[in-house]
Amino acid sequence: MSKVFVMDHPLIQHKIGWIRRKETGSKEFRTLISEIAMLMCYEATRDLKLTDIEIETPICKTTVKELKGKKLAVVPILRAGLGMVDGMLAMIPAAKVGHIGLYRDPQTLKPVEYYCKLPEDCDEREVFVVDPMLATGGSSIAAIQMLKDRGVKNIRFMCIIAAPEGVKAMQEAHPDVDIYIGALDKKLNEHCYIVPGLGDAGDRIFGTK
Ligand code: PRP
Ligand code: URA
Repeated sequence: MSKVFVMDHPLIQHKIGWIRRKETGSKEFRTLISEIAMLMCYEATRDLKLTDIEIETPICKTTVKELKGKKLAVVPILRAGLGMVDGMLAMIPAAKVGHIGLYRDPQTLKPVEYYCKLPEDCDEREVFVVDPMLATGGSSIAAIQMLKDRGVKNIRFMCIIAAPEGVKAMQEAHPDVDIYIGALDKKLNEHCYIVPGLGDAGDRIFGTK
């Protein structure tokens, strides 16, 4: 069974309080999403392996730590996942970025796939799939399946707000994928929006409603 990490860092909790407010406008919303992604990236990379290497300071030779082996990639689920990319890259600038285009059909609530472009060597990378919202889990489950179908083996999923229903569905579909959550909310409403949530993340990031 996958591990689920719910962030307890006070800065993350404080900033999530601001993105939930309906009066927070797109400009501030985008900035906060990016900052939360940066802080969550810091927490979600805690267990990356290190190796010792020899270097020379201006004073003498010494041994320092360097990230070991595995290369990283960030894969946002379009559209809303795009809002988290800058924050992730601020922490791991050498990561490559792939894109998966999915939207949730408003009638069926099933994910509809429209784009997939990944780094060539994505199957050799540790991949962080990012999307601010995990509601029913349909979108993230489909996105991760698209990666697995292309040979990607090491996947983590990061979201800012999650519903318990989505977490359960993800754990059942992808028991090998650890989930990093900014805040775990109460439930889904009758339209499968997260309660209390923050509304439609894509619309709030891009100001489309
Ligand atoms: C939102 C969100 C997730 C998905 C979550 O995207 O960014 O991708 O819904 O819901 P689920 O867990 O029930 O699949 P949306 O479909 O609104 O597309 P958008 O980002 O293009 O607005
Ligand atoms: N997608 C969103 O953007 N918000 C929700 O609450 C659920 C799905």
